[in-house]
Amino acid sequence: IRNLTPPQIQAMKGGDPIVCLTAYTTPIAKLMDDQCDVVLVGDSVGVVLHGLPSTLGVTLDMMIMHTQAVRRGLTRPLLVADLPFGTYEAGPEQALASAVRLMTEGQASAVKLEGGRVQAETIRFLTERGIPVMAHIGLLPQAINTVGGYKVQGRGEDAENVLADARAIAEAGAFSVVIEKVTASVAEKVTEAIDIPTIGIGASANCDGQVLVVDDMLGLFEDFKPKFVKRYGNWAEVGRDAIVSYASEVRARRFPASEHLFGDEAPKAKTPRN
Ligand code: KIV
Ligand code: NA
Repeated sequence: IRNLTPPQIQAMKGGDPIVCLTAYTTPIAKLMDDQCDVVLVGDSVGVVLHGLPSTLGVTLDMMIMHTQAVRRGLTRPLLVADLPFGTYEAGPEQALASAVRLMTEGQASAVKLEGGRVQAETIRFLTERGIPVMAHIGLLPQAINTVGGYKVQGRGEDAENVLADARAIAEAGAFSVVIEKVTASVAEKVTEAIDIPTIGIGASANCDGQVLVVDDMLGLFEDFKPKFVKRYGNWAEVGRDAIVSYASEVRARRFPASEHLFGDEAPKAKTPRN
């Protein structure tokens, strides 16, 4: 099997919804290999796996290591990796150097970066040099300090800003765009206005696709739950229960049991070797 390509994802515009999740490790990537069209190594890794308070502390080296791990678990989905804060904002040349590391060392097939009109020049520069770019508009978690919170975007007159950002990144050559935490009507207007797929998170079911942070939808990350998250599993509960059982069995000397132990005699070979 060959992984889906950015042009194939772009061609899904207006068709069957694009299924996307984040992943950061090989075993979780394997679970979604036959279900997802796009797998994103998001800089959300810093918050959900490393305990950071925001995505701002995520480094390019962290992204490369997690991208390598996810690559080992995928055969079908397109693998996209986030450019983390501080590794592309200086301009196209910095973005190129960082994106090349994600694609050569990390084995990503495309990169994602946050920003609309302000990143259009960088998106064009990368795309013209063989680097497929997924854009990210609406709420930009890397801009938390200037925006002052994880607020809904696109209400009232701000709708025009989101639309202008969408048009700019599509015109610059992005093959798709994540649209985060905007009103449903703005998400639908953007989806109609541009000819590349919109991947919604807290946006609208009428986007061309959806993405969630995998630890959120599995119910593994419990520190907070944005309104737009739906928990499809309860992995934290399952894990806690297992650890409670283990601890009590160890304290009662009920684990390990006889089937986990090694006797003095070597076992007899069951099947003869040729
Ligand atoms: O970092 C991330 O997980 C993301 C998705 C939520 C789109 O950017
Ligand atoms: Na991100």
